[in-house]
Amino acid sequence: MSQRLGVNVDHVATLRQARKASYPDPVAAAALAELAGAGQITIHLREDRRHIQDRDLRILRETCQTLLNLEMAATQVMVKIAYEFKPDVCTLVPERREELTTEGGLDVASQREALSRIAKNLKDGDILVSMFIDPDVDQVRASHKVNADRVELHTGRYCEAKRGRDRDRELSRLVDAAKAAAKLGMGVAAGHGLNYDNVGPIAGIAEIDELNIGHSIVSRAVLVGFERAVREMVERMRMPG
Ligand code: PXP
Repeated sequence: MSQRLGVNVDHVATLRQARKASYPDPVAAAALAELAGAGQITIHLREDRRHIQDRDLRILRETCQTLLNLEMAATQVMVKIAYEFKPDVCTLVPERREELTTEGGLDVASQREALSRIAKNLKDGDILVSMFIDPDVDQVRASHKVNADRVELHTGRYCEAKRGRDRDRELSRLVDAAKAAAKLGMGVAAGHGLNYDNVGPIAGIAEIDELNIGHSIVSRAVLVGFERAVREMVERMRMPG
């Protein structure tokens, strides 16, 4: 089975919101990403609406031809929005207003009761639930206990580590967490900070069925165009790590 590429189009919206303009449109970028081989479109509707807007979610729900993955904070306000627009998957992420991007994984182990309730609400609405967690076997087990269908493993520390021993250690944490999740029957995604140079070893982990990548693809797209940027990432994912 080949790994799915989820293209995160948030930063197309970042460029639009920088001028509060109507372009570039993340909906158009999503269509181009799908034509170039993306198997999923990922968006994060943040509480402060700094990039993706409600309008983007509404239109993408109608136009997305693959899977629509909504990253969101684990709050009842967001559950209500998810119920209205019915993405295929909701990925629960920690969210802090002052952060530049999602800085760490969700601590599922310490919020089991609240997250069980949110997961049940979403699943009752026929939405698959994924937990964005650090690559930690305890967090994988806790995600299974709250009935998540999937986990997404945070690759930030792997991406930031220098090549060599530090990176190898982070890679083996990802391998262990991916194996534990797959053994429990959960789907396994990974993402955050992945780029054309560091994606290979992560794409090589057999238990990982999906990668969600945004910043590096949108950055390359500014220079070479969206379709080419996505196609080149798909090619890198298929090259042995
Ligand atoms: N996965 C999750 C859960 C994220 O929060 C993000 C960042 O929005 C990504 C993947 C994509 O990260 P990047 O933009 O660094 O590729």
